[in-house]
Amino acid sequence: MDKKVEHRPEDAPGAKNLVKPYSGYEKNHVPAHDPLLTETDADTPMGEYMRRFWHPICMSEELTDTPHYLVFLGEELVAFRDKSGEVGVLHAHCCHRGASLEYGMIQEKGIMCSYHGWVYDVDGTCLEVPAPTGEEEEAEKFRKSVCQGAYKAFERHGLVFAYMGPAEEAPPFPEWESDFSVHPDDELVPFSNFQHCNWLQVQDNAADQYHHIPLHTTAVVPGHEQGTTFGEAGAAPYLVRPDLQFFPVHNGTGMAWTSSRRVDDEKIFIRVNHQALPNLSFHSYLFEDGTEKKHFSRLHMIRWTVSVDDTNSKMIGWRVVGKNIDPREVGTKHLIGYETIDFLEGQVAMRRPERATYGQGEKPPIPKDHRDRDCYKDAQYAPGDYEVIITQRPIAVHALERPMKADGGVYLFRKLLREAVNGGNKDAAPEAIREWLKSVNATPNSYCSGHVLEVPAAETLEDEVKRRRDVARAVIDVLHDSDELKGAERTKMVTARLEEIEKTVR
Ligand code: FES
Ligand SMILES: [Fe+2]
Repeated sequence: MDKKVEHRPEDAPGAKNLVKPYSGYEKNHVPAHDPLLTETDADTPMGEYMRRFWHPICMSEELTDTPHYLVFLGEELVAFRDKSGEVGVLHAHCCHRGASLEYGMIQEKGIMCSYHGWVYDVDGTCLEVPAPTGEEEEAEKFRKSVCQGAYKAFERHGLVFAYMGPAEEAPPFPEWESDFSVHPDDELVPFSNFQHCNWLQVQDNAADQYHHIPLHTTAVVPGHEQGTTFGEAGAAPYLVRPDLQFFPVHNGTGMAWTSSRRVDDEKIFIRVNHQALPNLSFHSYLFEDGTEKKHFSRLHMIRWTVSVDDTNSKMIGWRVVGKNIDPREVGTKHLIGYETIDFLEGQVAMRRPERATYGQGEKPPIPKDHRDRDCYKDAQYAPGDYEVIITQRPIAVHALERPMKADGGVYLFRKLLREAVNGGNKDAAPEAIREWLKSVNATPNSYCSGHVLEVPAAETLEDEVKRRRDVARAVIDVLHDSDELKGAERTKMVTARLEEIEKTVR
């Protein structure tokens, strides 16, 4: 029997939920991945959707005295900062005869291809075509007839952002919470962490909050605990399994989810995270110990999951570091950056002891194969997010998944993505999101917030579960009702409403 026969994912034998001991044989077919959500090359539905948004493509520190070659959404690109300070993101292959501009020479204005000396401005305009003596006029005419492929780009807080759709359709850059709600005592610290797998499974992990205890608080082999966040930070509430609820927000262009945990008999901790289409996530305070009452703590990490190509991606964004968001100063600024993040070991391919052998500003090579790393055994002793995400296969196969209730956030966000890409939600169409951004002066509010509330424990387990869920839902209502307000005005309203809720429950 020919086992290589092609199946549609839902027909594949492996996709059937056969409950039978020793059923390996019946399950040895791997169905196809979901191309609609996972593939992002040009001309794919998700690729076209992604191209209508601004994305961080690399860190500012990756733009040096030589051009930076990178792949993004399957396209080969070269990014550089010219000597006048302008950032260019151009197609890598020179439009003359295809040499890569990564070997080009950065100019006062633009970049010169090293093969025949054509010079391109950051917008792709050809500035110079060297001509043999006597043919200058002809060369000048020719120069005006060519143009290198280029994308709009700018730098912000140590990241390089690009827009890769039709230039005339570019939306305003969304300044969520007006510069990401950073308090004057705090700062946005950039990072970029490579992931050797499809973008969506990395994004999925943002809403997968049930993995915290098994993955992050338990070593596979005792004595090899990863530390940080849950242990050293004394973030005791994370040791309790959260009660999770998921809510579509902003007309189905985003999802807020609550994780609600009891801190002690008097207090509960409700964490609200927010994901915005297509690939942005806002994470509230990671090191909460629940000791101080808090009505409205804000963003602690802003992260885009960007697609390099269909089997590689990056988590790239900012950690918010400072005394306002993190009064106990648990965050570690020097551990946030290129191929490193401070809150957990196991977020990137290379582990800290190996990475520490590289000097400040030096870029460690990103290992190509996770089984061929010096830290492979350590990673087996105490795996992290990197290990479990990238080994869901290069592109995770949704047809093989057996989701339970706690996976609801993963599935809700995929549903929002699917509706956005196939036209099922008109509010999620790129032009609708562009108009919405304009209507809020490109400073939309986020639901992302942390709350330690005085809510006493209920008498019975049943009532306690109901109470945690009711209060979490009430928090979402308050965030929804305050969505028109900004800054201090919003904080005031949220605080007043949550104080009312505390009184009511008591
Ligand atoms: S290939 Fe670039 S100038 Fe000729
Ligand atoms: Fe995790």
